[in-house]
Amino acid sequence: MQQIRAIVGTQWGDEGKGKIVDFLAKEADVVVRAQGGNNAGHTVEAFGKVFKLHLIPSGILYKDKLNIIGNGVVIDPESLIQEIENLEKEGISTENLKISDRAHLVMPYHKILDEEQERLRGEESLGTTKRGIGPAYADKTERTNLRVCDMLDEEEFIQKLRNVYERKNQILTHVYHKTPMKFGELLEQFMKYGEILKPYIIDTIKLLNDSIKAGKKVLLEGAQATMLDLDYGTYPYVTSSHPTVGGFCIGAGIAPKYIQEVIGVVKAYTTRVGKGPFPTELLDEIGDNIREKGREYGTTTGRPRRCGWLDLVVVRYAVLINGIDKIALTKLDTLSGLPKIKVCRAYKYEGKILELFPASLRVAMECEPVYEEFEGWSEEEIKAAKEYDQLPRSAKRYIEFIEKETGAKVFLIGTGPAREDIIIKD
Ligand code: IMP
Repeated sequence: MQQIRAIVGTQWGDEGKGKIVDFLAKEADVVVRAQGGNNAGHTVEAFGKVFKLHLIPSGILYKDKLNIIGNGVVIDPESLIQEIENLEKEGISTENLKISDRAHLVMPYHKILDEEQERLRGEESLGTTKRGIGPAYADKTERTNLRVCDMLDEEEFIQKLRNVYERKNQILTHVYHKTPMKFGELLEQFMKYGEILKPYIIDTIKLLNDSIKAGKKVLLEGAQATMLDLDYGTYPYVTSSHPTVGGFCIGAGIAPKYIQEVIGVVKAYTTRVGKGPFPTELLDEIGDNIREKGREYGTTTGRPRRCGWLDLVVVRYAVLINGIDKIALTKLDTLSGLPKIKVCRAYKYEGKILELFPASLRVAMECEPVYEEFEGWSEEEIKAAKEYDQLPRSAKRYIEFIEKETGAKVFLIGTGPAREDIIIKD
């Protein structure tokens, strides 16, 4: 049976999607990134090495998979070229990488604006990755941005750049007191990028749909996560794309009817980088312990991640929005050694029980988590388990509680960082 699957983050990102995509890519023919940019950081451990991917789909680590960067992704060509070169240096071929001619570009001024806007927001900063993602998507919706196809057409590029260049320079110099950009330098730089990336650039919408018609198996690889979605997340503490299944359809050029299965990646606890509400955050030793043990530092920025208990209000909300069929539970091993483990199953707000995430940030900040407490398990017990039945009883109870509360079945459990540290549950 043909499979078109989507993999989506259910929390605030960093759920370990890279490893799950890498695992599921084995069975796929095509892996597609459809949104976000190099704000994402997917860590995959393979061939005894650690690979950090930002723009390139995790399927690149397999020789025979087609890897597509879809139209919904914003591309910083400098960063993409660097990533291609790094992979090639490690002996990983990028021959099977294809880039959408419709994808939007992250321009140098987007990065400066991201940085300066954050600085100006001061205490109210969003905690962005400063990769220019927000300003690039803002120009896309404002209909003034440049696209990948423009890099292959000098005249078109000149005309489009001319339309925005003066205005961007005015903002850079008058609002942020930065030095103005030089038209010629920008043009030269992007023509060079176009030259280098040309072999990879095609109409990926046709390629993907032809692949589907030919019966190929497709994996849509989400970056970021549901709670960072521009519409569904903790706005304004979100990213500027739609890291939810609806967003993948737009960003890949695939009709919703083709998606047959949605897999939600849930980390066994919760983390978030940047600011914004986080009801189950642990500001104590347990939080520090999880951060160190789970190596919870940003792949892209190196920032320490905020850590807390698993929040099933968040996961339930993600299951609802994305139509999640199955859950891949990651990093269960990180919780090993804790005597007691808590899971939030609802919020209490002004005496009422909330089972889904509220729109108002003020309400979210004032919510009190309603916890269920579980017995812990030891490091050795998790390490020794190679099958679901071998997991300690307390861990199984934890997993079954997640299933009961979210209505989605856990089918895969991550028990360590390596590719093979995975348990399949029926
Ligand atoms: P931006 O995407 O750089 O604009 O950042 C907006 C928010 O999304 C910030 O809180 C970032 O920390 C967060 N964010 C963006 N990409 C990722 C990711 O891949 N993992 C986790 N958080 C992310």
